[in-house]
Amino acid sequence: MNRFACVLCGAVAALCLTMPGVYAGPKPEVSQRPWGVTSDGQPVELYTLANGHGMKAAITNYGAILVSLEVPDRDGKTGDVVLGYDKVEDYIKDSPYFGCIAGRYANRIAKGKFSLDGREYSLAVNNGPNHLHGGLKGFDKVVWKAEPVRRGRVVGVRLTYVSPDGEEGYPGTLTCQVTYGLTADNALVIRYRATTDAPTVLNLTHHSYFNLKGQGEGDILDHLLMINADRYTPVDDTLIPTGELAPVAGTPMDFTRPTAIGKRINEDFVQLLRGGGYDHNYVLNRDGGGLSLAARAYAPATGRVMEVWTTEPGIQFYAGNFLDGTLTGKDGKVYKHRYGFCLETQHFPDSPNQSDFPSVVLRPGETYRQHTEYRFSVR
Ligand code: GLA
Repeated sequence: MNRFACVLCGAVAALCLTMPGVYAGPKPEVSQRPWGVTSDGQPVELYTLANGHGMKAAITNYGAILVSLEVPDRDGKTGDVVLGYDKVEDYIKDSPYFGCIAGRYANRIAKGKFSLDGREYSLAVNNGPNHLHGGLKGFDKVVWKAEPVRRGRVVGVRLTYVSPDGEEGYPGTLTCQVTYGLTADNALVIRYRATTDAPTVLNLTHHSYFNLKGQGEGDILDHLLMINADRYTPVDDTLIPTGELAPVAGTPMDFTRPTAIGKRINEDFVQLLRGGGYDHNYVLNRDGGGLSLAARAYAPATGRVMEVWTTEPGIQFYAGNFLDGTLTGKDGKVYKHRYGFCLETQHFPDSPNQSDFPSVVLRPGETYRQHTEYRFSVR
């Protein structure tokens, strides 16, 4: 019987006629429990979402971090496909942004400076000469307010954070809402919403390190990846875009057709040398502003497939080049070089300083919205 079928009449959930509006399949659930305290004594919680179809997600309100994501493989065996830690203390101590929501500005701003409406703003320089992922205490290191949500067959957790005017150097009081949801057809949905009381810049993303073989189960070089992008933004040697939108064709940056991540990653190509491998923003091919397919990854070893769909103009493909075996994660697994990859849906890095890139300015009265889905299946 179809996994998504009604157990009473056998019809697929959406078409069930036995008890219209009442689907008799397995019940999705959301639960919560205390998960420790931050260094300044704020209590933290862990929310567990189960979709009733084999997928489970655990999310903490510290950093809005996706702590684990259990997904079935082609034999129906579930495994955790994201890197992370067992305890909040480890995230606080040292995390390369595992599973977090990065903000206010995900990715880099050159030299930590930008101008808006004629005023110059200075941000922390925390990555070589540049600003990265919101600064010293970005959205990955704050405690969000959380509440469980249930809508139809979707279970989720809604996280809210109000970033005060001037926090980490950014102007405007920013009210952010991020909702993680699990659907009955095995998608992790992330919806973002933000408003401000003064003009500001904003770029939010989700920073999970995926490994579709299972977290800690080797490197990701054998994954086949497709990125729906004919162009990317080449970077200088500090990983700031040069401003060019360069064609991927004829270079090792080309993932328009499914290609093993490891096939060309060590080639003598200046962009790869600068990034220590792939660490680049791709300019997504899109028609219109709706949800569109950005990327598809497949692990031949387990049959797991992950598609990324988004409303954003870009996606950062990062191949875990900075992982070096010094971090020990969940279940004592050691995270070695390239044990996880990130697909971060976003606006282009350094957009506040690059007037030809799509705008990241948010003004009072406007609403920032982003919708991204990580859809799982097997082959
Ligand atoms: C992003 C950046 C990378 C790296 C990781 C975190 O993906 O583009 O250069 O900083 O975050 O380690």
